[in-house]
Amino acid sequence: MLLQKKITFIGSGNMGEALMSGLINAKLSRPENIIATDILQSRLDSMNSQYHIRTSQDNQKAVSEADIVVLCVKPQAVLNVLDHIKTVIRPEQLIVSILAGITSDTINDVIAKNNPVIRVMPNIPVVVGEGAMGLCLGEFAQEEHKLLAVQICEAVGKVQIVPEHLMDVITGLSGSGPAYIYMIIEALTDGGVMMGLPRDVALKLATQTVLGSAKLVQETNVHPAVLKDHVTTPGGTAIAAIQELERHGLRPMMIRAVETATRRATELSQILRKNNGLKNES
Ligand SMILES: NC(=O)c1ccc[n+]([C@@H]2O[C@H](COP(=O)([O-])OP(=O)(O)OC[C@H]3O[C@@H](n4cnc5c(N)ncnc54)[C@H](OP(=O)(O)O)[C@@H]3O)[C@@H](O)[C@H]2O)c1
Repeated sequence: MLLQKKITFIGSGNMGEALMSGLINAKLSRPENIIATDILQSRLDSMNSQYHIRTSQDNQKAVSEADIVVLCVKPQAVLNVLDHIKTVIRPEQLIVSILAGITSDTINDVIAKNNPVIRVMPNIPVVVGEGAMGLCLGEFAQEEHKLLAVQICEAVGKVQIVPEHLMDVITGLSGSGPAYIYMIIEALTDGGVMMGLPRDVALKLATQTVLGSAKLVQETNVHPAVLKDHVTTPGGTAIAAIQELERHGLRPMMIRAVETATRRATELSQILRKNNGLKNES
């Protein structure tokens, strides 16, 4: 079904490229059915030579050819983009937006049409096909639209469907989450170096430890607290380290990190709306 759809990506940056390459690699879409747009011609040339997709600097023309329009520009640019393309958008076209902080209502308001809109909050591991994504349906999106959007997302990772009011939490947890994990990998590496390991060895071990531990949670479905208990022998090394992590508040710190990032996502969305003269949503 998706294979037959013409998909236009507005914005060919990190996220746009990851989604397009994911679709092509998974053979969910044919290169001739994908149109990438961007401001920079050099970027489009590179997309065309790597993926053999069609490219255009003309957003209106690219949108008019599409069944599905995927918005992949920065949130600051999107209102101009929507204002520019609204005259060519047809009501049956599905709009998928990966923009942080722009609600489906805003998109429908700006284009002044009741198009089906699906919002996705991806994270940077989509570039290696291991993204964690939240997806929500706008007011006019139906099951068929959800299935198409989920197919697009599953080409580059795992998807959870949530109500739209939880999208800022997705931003705070998995959207910004890679930054927290990179800090943990870096800190574990420093610990290894502190205790005498060469840095490259420490980095490889720290990275694989995070990857392997996550995989074990995912593949066994065993609660992480139980897995933690399994590797914690009485009077051993892990429990000594855990005592230290608890003393310094690792868990409340991580909880607060997600809470703070979520609040900041809401705040940024409100600032964006204010700066663009849009009414605030409750
Ligand atoms: N990166 C992340 O970890 C992450 C996570 C979750 C969600 N997101 C969302 O994903 C979106 C894209 O992020 P990104 O990291 O891919 O950003 P990016 O690399 O800056 O990509 C945006 C691209 O869109 C182009 N663009 C700007 N205005 C345009 C226009 N009018 N028409 C066509 N193309 C235009 C930009 O060109 P110029 O560079 O020339 O301006 C750039 O190539 C953002 O809205 C962000 O909220 C990102």
